[in-house]
Formats: sequence, C-alpha cells, structure tokens
Amino acid sequence: MNSVPQHVAIIMDGNGRWAKAQGKPRSFGHLRGTENVRNIAIKANELGVKVLTLYAFSTENWKRPAEEVNYLMGLPKIFIDRYIDELMQKGIKIRMIGDIEQIPSETRKVLERAFEKTRNNKNMTLVFALNYGGRKEIVDGINRYVKQLDDKDHVLTEDEFSRYLYTAEYPELELMIRTSLDYRISNFLLWQLCYAEMCFIDKYWPDFTGEDFENIINDFMQRHRRFGGLE
Ligand code: IPE
Ligand code: IPE
Ligand code: MG
Repeated sequence: MNSVPQHVAIIMDGNGRWAKAQGKPRSFGHLRGTENVRNIAIKANELGVKVLTLYAFSTENWKRPAEEVNYLMGLPKIFIDRYIDELMQKGIKIRMIGDIEQIPSETRKVLERAFEKTRNNKNMTLVFALNYGGRKEIVDGINRYVKQLDDKDHVLTEDEFSRYLYTAEYPELELMIRTSLDYRISNFLLWQLCYAEMCFIDKYWPDFTGEDFENIINDFMQRHRRFGGLE
C-alpha cells in the first residue's frame, strides 16, 4: 500500500462544456471552476497532500478569444479575495509555476501579495500553473543551466537538471488527475509526469467533488507501482 501522495497535480478541464450544458456563458463555468478550487484544496490539505499543483492557464490558452483570456486573468483576484482568509487559517501556502512576466500587472500584483502573505504557512502548498507550458519549462531550465555553466565538460545528471525546473522545491509528482475525459497531457508537467500515476475522470471540473478526490487518493494508495522493476 502506498502512502497519501505528497504531490498531486490536476488538469482542471471542462469548465466551458459544463457551462454550455446549462446554456450559460463559458465565463460562468470558469467562475464555478474557481470556486471548486477552494473545495478541492481544502480537501487535499485535510487528507495530508503536501503539494497540489493546479493547471489554471496554459501557454496555449492565449489562443482563446481576448474576452475569455481577460476573464481568466481576473480569476486569481476573485479567488484570493474570497478565500485568502480561509487559506491562512488552514496554513495553506500559495505559489505559482509558469512565466509570470506575460501576466497582466494587476493580476501579478494580486498574486505576489498572496505569495508574500502565505509564505510562512506550513501545511499544504497550493501551486497554480499559470501561463505554464511543459516544453517552455524545460527550455527555460536549459537556458538557465547553460548561463551559469563555466565547465563545458561537466556532465549534467537528471537530479541536477530537476533543480533548474520550476518545480525544483517540490516533492516528486506522484499522481495526476484530469477531469472531462480527454486523454491527453496538453503540455502539462512533461518531465515530472515520468512515473506519476494517472487518473482520467468522467466529470467536468465544476462537478468534481471532494469525495471524488478522496476516492482517487484511496485508489492511488492501492495501486501497485513498479517503476520498471518487478517488485
Ligand atoms: C478548463 O476548462 C479551464 C482552462 C483551460 C482555462 P476549459 O475552458 O478548457 O473548458 P472546456 O474544455 O472548453 O470545456
Ligand atoms: C488544459 O486544458 C489547460 C488547462 C486546464 C489550464 P485545455 O482545455 O487548454 O487543453 P486542450 O486544448 O483540450 O488540450
Ligand atoms: Mg478544455
């Protein structure tokens, strides 16, 4: 039996389809999805997950209509204004991975304030993947590595390279969940998914409950992870 996974990641997909199914605009689905982040974060913290990484906006999501992109960029403020007190109370730290440079300055300010305010919280870390791309993360890591390199004969190891990724400070990813039943990775955590268990769920993100999350954690704990060996 495995322990509770230290690091869980979720591709929170299906907000648009969820809204469409009830004849509402896509933004309504995104708002409900944001409210659900609170529920799942509280549940994950209760269960003893140490890091929960949520895919909130990919480097490819800029292709969407400006109106939707603007709406999505306003969601961190809504989330933080509504839930920061509760997150503080529960000892949850907020962080992000991805390129913050392209994020509108208002949103950046709100995020940076939340990082600062929650930085000493010691329970779970809630990491938003925002303007995140898995390939971009690897290329950014290579560029940072090359920049500091002075011995051209140095042989880079996998462990050493991991420290150049956005996730350097977090434990190994053990479980990845995607809602809405699309069986793809969509440029998420390409390196980190190496030996993560995966779970694809037949529910849109706004309908995904704490109970669903708990069931997945229990299922994870029963899985037989071999890592290529025979044990
Ligand atoms: C996930 O929901 C949220 C983001 C990608 C920002 P979608 O907006 O992708 O919803 P669907 O997949 O169109 O239903
Ligand atoms: C992945 O969902 C990105 C996020 C959940 C933020 P998408 O809806 O963008 O992915 P595709 O387009 O279905 O691959
Ligand atoms: Mg989608």
